[in-house]
Amino acid sequence: MMNLILICLLCGLYGVLAKDKEQKGKYSVPILDVKTRQLVLDINQTLLLNCRGRWELSWAFPSGLATDQVRVEKSRCGRTRQHYCSRLTVSRSQTQHTGQFRCRYEHKTQRQTFIYVFVTDSQQPFVDQGMNPHVLYMREKHPLIIPCRVTHPNVTTTLVKFPNHSLSPDHRNIIWNSKQGFTIRTPTFYYIGPFFCQTITDGVTHKSRIYFVHRPVSNIMDVYLNTSGSIEALKGDRLVVNCTATAELNTRVNITWDYPGKNSNGGSTSKRILKHQTHMLFYNILTIPKLQRSDRGLYTCRVTSGENTKQVKATVTVYDRPFIRLKPRHGSVMEVQAGQKSYRISLKLQAFPAPEVIWLKDGMVAAEQCSRYRMDGNSLIIRDVAEEDAGKYTVLVRIQEHGLYQNLTLTLVVNVSPQIGEKAVSLQDPGSVPRGSRQVLHCTSHGVPPPHIQWLWHPCPSKGLPAAPQA
Ligand SMILES: *[C@@H]1O[C@H](CO)[C@@H](O)[C@H](O)[C@H]1NC(C)=O
Ligand SMILES: *[C@@H]1O[C@H](CO)[C@@H](O)[C@H](O)[C@H]1NC(C)=O
Ligand SMILES: *[C@@H]1O[C@H](CO)[C@@H](O)[C@H](O)[C@H]1NC(C)=O
Ligand SMILES: *[C@@H]1O[C@H](CO)[C@@H](O)[C@H](O)[C@H]1NC(C)=O
Ligand SMILES: *[C@@H]1O[C@H](CO)[C@@H](O)[C@H](O)[C@H]1NC(C)=O
Ligand SMILES: *[C@@H]1O[C@H](CO)[C@@H](O)[C@H](O)[C@H]1NC(C)=O
Ligand SMILES: *[C@@H]1O[C@H](CO)[C@@H](O)[C@H](O)[C@H]1NC(C)=O
Repeated sequence: MMNLILICLLCGLYGVLAKDKEQKGKYSVPILDVKTRQLVLDINQTLLLNCRGRWELSWAFPSGLATDQVRVEKSRCGRTRQHYCSRLTVSRSQTQHTGQFRCRYEHKTQRQTFIYVFVTDSQQPFVDQGMNPHVLYMREKHPLIIPCRVTHPNVTTTLVKFPNHSLSPDHRNIIWNSKQGFTIRTPTFYYIGPFFCQTITDGVTHKSRIYFVHRPVSNIMDVYLNTSGSIEALKGDRLVVNCTATAELNTRVNITWDYPGKNSNGGSTSKRILKHQTHMLFYNILTIPKLQRSDRGLYTCRVTSGENTKQVKATVTVYDRPFIRLKPRHGSVMEVQAGQKSYRISLKLQAFPAPEVIWLKDGMVAAEQCSRYRMDGNSLIIRDVAEEDAGKYTVLVRIQEHGLYQNLTLTLVVNVSPQIGEKAVSLQDPGSVPRGSRQVLHCTSHGVPPPHIQWLWHPCPSKGLPAAPQA
């Protein structure tokens, strides 16, 4: 135990010593041959920088300088060729090349040395040219930088709020720096809007491009998917879900997806932003090219803007193969009373993909047989149920593209209340009949199931003798 601690102490000590030595040692950062912090060149002049270090070197240069405008020559140098040298050449410097040139170690880019290069042209005092305005976002309690950098270190400028309100540097809140532009230390609402920088050289006024300062708001109004909350798909299918966020103008949002296959890089996303007159629309479309079983689960589209978050979810079910599962809902024989306003014949049907459903009555397409039959979803509805509706109903379910078929036949019994036929025709009073004569009384009745007939005799309250009841 003691030994272990001692060893560790020694390791720690060695580590500290080694680090110290390295930092003190020469070439802890690469070294440039130019010793000043800045360099002022004229337009069309050649910029030449030499850098030397202990490891492989790389360069970082201003974004206005394209890679193919730079020549870099690497070599080994030093007495025993123990060092790495790199020479950077820009043969025709242009004003937009103004900026920081950094020489750094390739494996540890934070170990670097830099020099700021101005490429001057009295006709072009501003680095950033171009007509199209640049959008800047102001954040409360954060300095606002209007990056109208200049091509000569001694250029003095004024900041102008459009159209003509000038602001001069005051060394307190409005700070000028030729390498940065204007910094507004604590910007107020006054700084929202279009600004530009202006300078007068040899009696000529030069203006920078326009900078639009926006104060971003973070009001997400709504977030929705272009699908329902549950998505069904087959293994191998392509899944494409479009998540839309609407937000107030000037709002910036981040849209991210969370889903089961996110870490296995199974999906890709693409984004779009649309500006409407009254609001912003942000789209983020998730695509999974080939669904696997492992892709089933919860898909969450999360939209954040500053402190605000809104999200929307959908469940994805992945089936191995297409299927039809068909069962009667209430047994295979159903009973209904004639005269009922409507009756629904429904099934338990599960299938994927969506099947075609056809109802037959006694072997013929139901809807073509009678105008009282209509489909509602997968059910068949019979309006004003009549005795003739009794029969065999067959539902055919098919998914033709996958060659899947199933059918199910149900029997409908229509009960009819007993009716006495004689009641329908006007009743004829048999009148008086001779005593002792034989009389036949008729009662015709119909119903489903067949009715049971019973005769009852009521003695006549007034004159005459009643006829003997006869069944
Ligand atoms: C820089 O070079 C270009 C191309 O040769 C030339 O047209 C331009 O006049 C030069 N500018 C200056 C300031 O010398
Ligand atoms: C900038 O101005 C200072 C002081 O006026 C001067 O010493 C310096 O040479 C000027 N720099 C350039 C590059 O002209
Ligand atoms: C600034 O612009 C306004 C409107 O365009 C004009 O009335 C005013 O005279 C201008 N002020 C200056 C100092 O140019
Ligand atoms: C995404 O869905 C929205 C509706 O939710 C639609 O307006 C928009 O056009 C869709 N975007 C794409 C790229 O399909
Ligand atoms: C949702 O949007 C994507 C992308 O626009 C589209 O490919 C997909 O078919 C849409 N889904 C639905 C159910 O509309
Ligand atoms: C979006 O996310 C990035 C990186 O996580 C963050 O820097 C940025 O501030 C976020 N933007 C908004 C509007 O929330
Ligand atoms: C219903 O299915 C059976 C076998 O499952 C088949 O023999 C019969 O022909 C089918 N009926 C119809 C009308 O398709």
